[in-house]
Amino acid sequence: MKRIIIGNWKMNLDNRLAEVLVDRLRIHTTEPTAKIVLCPNFVALSLINLKVKKLDPKIWAVGAQNINENDEGAYTGEVSGPMLKPFVKYCIVGHSERRIHFGETDEVIAKKVASCMRAKIIPVLCVGENLRQRNEGLAKRTVMDQFEENLSELTMKEASKVVIAYEPVWAIGTGQNALPSDVEEMLSAIYQYLITKYSAETAAKIPLLYGGSVNGDNAKTYLDTQPCSGLLVGGASLNYKEFSKICQLP
Ligand code: PGA
Repeated sequence: MKRIIIGNWKMNLDNRLAEVLVDRLRIHTTEPTAKIVLCPNFVALSLINLKVKKLDPKIWAVGAQNINENDEGAYTGEVSGPMLKPFVKYCIVGHSERRIHFGETDEVIAKKVASCMRAKIIPVLCVGENLRQRNEGLAKRTVMDQFEENLSELTMKEASKVVIAYEPVWAIGTGQNALPSDVEEMLSAIYQYLITKYSAETAAKIPLLYGGSVNGDNAKTYLDTQPCSGLLVGGASLNYKEFSKICQLP
C-alpha cells in the first residue's frame, strides 16, 4: 500500500502564505516516498487546488478539513460535499478538535462520512481516546465504539475506500508523543476490528495512519510500526522543511 502523508493546516495560513508553502514544498520535495495530501482552510481550497493540479496527481492531492452532512440547504456558514468535490480528493472527518470544540457527535460524524461517499470524496476518519480514557484502560474500547458509530452508514464496499487516522487526543498539538509501541498496539487492534467487521480483503485496502505531535525527527519511528501506512501531521505540516522531510523518508 502506498504511504500517505496528510498535512492538516488547521486554521492557519491565508491564501498568500498557503501559496508560498505549496511552492516551497514543491521545490524541496524532489523525491517523495508517499502520496501527499494538503488540507488548507475552505477559502484557500480553490487556489491550492489550482496549484496542486499542475503537479503529479499520483503524488499530490488536496483535502478539506470538514464537510457538512447535508448536500445543500439552510445551514449558514457550512460547506457541502458537492461544493467541495471540484477542489478536493480527501476530507478530514471527525477530527478531535471538531469533536471537542464544535460538539460533533459520533452520529454526526457517521453522516459526514456518508456525505463524503455521496460526493466521491475519500473520508479521512479520525478516532482516538483522551487521556482519562487511556489512564482508565479504555483506549481501545473508546476507539472501537467510535468506529461502530462512525462507520455505521457505510456498506462494506464503501468502507474499503475510507482512510483511518488514529490520533490520541492527548498527543495532538501537545508535543507529548505516543509511544510507537502504543501506536502499533492500537493500529493492530483497528486492523483486527476491520477484519472482523468486514473482511480481511477489505481491511487490507484501508490505510491506517497515525497522528499526534508528529515531526521530522519522530515520523520514521511511527512509519516503522505495523500496520501503519501513513501520518496525519498538524503543526509540523506548516513548516516546509519538516514536512518535506517527512514526505521523503525512506
Ligand atoms: P499535531 O496535530 O501534529 O499538531 O499534533 C495533528 C492533528 O491535529 O491532526
